[in-house]
Amino acid sequence: MAKKILLLNGPNLALLGTREPQIYGTTTLADIVSATRAAAEARGWTLDAFQSDVEGELVRAIGQARGVYDGIVINPAAYTHTSVALHDAIKASEVPTVEVHLSNVYAREGYRHESLTAPACVGQICGFGAKGYLLALEALA
Ligand code: DQA
Repeated sequence: MAKKILLLNGPNLALLGTREPQIYGTTTLADIVSATRAAAEARGWTLDAFQSDVEGELVRAIGQARGVYDGIVINPAAYTHTSVALHDAIKASEVPTVEVHLSNVYAREGYRHESLTAPACVGQICGFGAKGYLLALEALA
């Protein structure tokens, strides 16, 4: 079945490429979006992408996804560790959602070890850099 995918990226991810490259690599968000879109299109799927530093804008995007998208790939960035609102939005959307992190959050500071959003998702992929977004599409397939 051709799927409609929503790719969401949270705060500070627009800075990818120059942001702490030793942790996040040098791939830009534009590169990630175009590679993920190309991989989706290779499957005959479509992909819409949205980045925001604003929690409420991400909540709204997820809220509007219900009945429209067949899957969400989200890197909630720092909101992963703080946002009950994103957890609730993902649950309410009833859209299968895969959480992605570029870095291995479990090998980093203790405050990154808890994800409030992952329990609302079908699964989580972390530690594989930009490739994680492609693995998320594979998971949704
Ligand atoms: C991140 C990990 C988060 O802990 C951090 O706040 C980010 C990026 C990642 O992709 O590795 O902004 O989600």
